[in-house]
Amino acid sequence: MEMRLSLWFASVVVLTQLVCGALCWGKEGHYTVCKIAEGYFEDVTIAAVRKLLPESAEGDLASFCSWPDEIKHLSQWKWTSVLHYVNTPEYRCNYEYCRDCHDANKHKDLCVTGAIFNYTNQLMSASENSQRISHFNLTEALMFISHYIGDVHQSMCLANVYVDFDFSALAYWFSWRFRCNNIIVKWYHHKTTLHHVWDNMIIESALETYYNSSLPRMIQALQAKLKNGWSNDIPLWESCQFNQKACPNQYASESIDLACKYAYRNATPGTTLGDDYFLSRLPIVEKRLAQGGIRLAATLNRIFSVKPKLARS
Ligand SMILES: *[C@@H]1O[C@H](CO)[C@@H](O)[C@H](O)[C@H]1NC(C)=O
Ligand SMILES: *[C@@H]1O[C@H](CO)[C@@H](O)[C@H](O)[C@H]1NC(C)=O
Ligand SMILES: *[C@@H]1O[C@H](CO)[C@@H](O)[C@H](O)[C@H]1NC(C)=O
Ligand SMILES: [Zn+2]
Repeated sequence: MEMRLSLWFASVVVLTQLVCGALCWGKEGHYTVCKIAEGYFEDVTIAAVRKLLPESAEGDLASFCSWPDEIKHLSQWKWTSVLHYVNTPEYRCNYEYCRDCHDANKHKDLCVTGAIFNYTNQLMSASENSQRISHFNLTEALMFISHYIGDVHQSMCLANVYVDFDFSALAYWFSWRFRCNNIIVKWYHHKTTLHHVWDNMIIESALETYYNSSLPRMIQALQAKLKNGWSNDIPLWESCQFNQKACPNQYASESIDLACKYAYRNATPGTTLGDDYFLSRLPIVEKRLAQGGIRLAATLNRIFSVKPKLARS
C-alpha cells in the first residue's frame, strides 16, 4: 500500500513537472518582444541577424521568435522543453542560479537562464573567431536566445514549485495545488489556468479591448510608450553589470518578484479574475514585453559588436 501511495505521489510530481511552466509567452507575446527589439538593433546586429536567418525571413527576427515553442515537442528537440522556464522553491519569492537552474534530474544549467548564457557564449565565440567555422548552428542559437529572453520576462515562467522527493509528499501536493502556476481560475467566464492568463489571456483581452484585435496596433502603442513615458528607464533596462554580455539572472529575479506581488495575489484556485485583475495586471504585462524587447536588443548589440567579424566573411 505504502509503495503504491508513493508511486502515486511520484506520478503527481512528474505530472506537475510537465504541466508547470510548460509554455511561457504565447505567439503574440514573443512576436511583440522581438518586434520591439528590432527597433533598437544597431547596424552590426541588423547585419548579423540578416546573415543568420534563412533568406525567406528577410531579416525579420520576429517571425522566428516562436520557433523554440514549435519544435520542442519533436523527439530530437525534447531536451529543450525544460529551457523555457525555471522552477524556484516553494514559499521563497526569490531566485538563485546555482540553486534553481537545473532540470528535474538535477542536471545543472538546464533552465531558461542557463540557456541564455549558453547561446550567448555560442554567438560570442563565433564573433570572436570568425575565421573558424563554428561547430554550433548559430541560426538556432539566435532563435533560441531571442525566444528565451522573452520567456525569462514572463513571471509565470518562474514557477513556484518545490520538486524534491525528500519533501513530505502530502505537503508537496497541497503546495502544488495552491502555489504552482497551474492554479485553475476563471478568466471572466472561461475556465483556464493562471499560467495561461499570463502568457495569453491578458494580452488577448487587451487586443480585443483596446486595439481592435490588431497586434501591430498594440506593438505601436508600446513603441510609443518607449519613446515617451518609459524613455528615461531604457538605459537602466539595458544595463548589464560587470561588463557582462547577458544578464538573465536579474530578469529572472524581477519575474519571480512580480509573480509573488501581482500574479498569485488574489488568484487562489477557483477565483474568477475579471476587470480588477485585468486592469491592474495589464500594465505589468505591457512593461515586461517592452523590457524584454529592449533587453533582447541590448544583448544582441553587445554580442555582435564585440568584434564585427561575423557580419562580413
Ligand atoms: C547548449 O547548447 C547546445 C546545443 O547548441 C546543447 O547541446 C547544450 O546541451 C546546451 N546546454 C545548455 C545548458 O543549454
Ligand atoms: C541550422 O538550423 C536550422 C534550423 O534548425 C536548419 O534549418 C539549418 O539547416 C541548420 N544549418 C546547418 C548548417 O545545419
Ligand atoms: C476594426 O477591425 C475591423 C476588422 O478588421 C475593421 O473592419 C474595422 O474598421 C476596425 N475598426 C477600427 C476602428 O479601426
Ligand atoms: Zn517559451
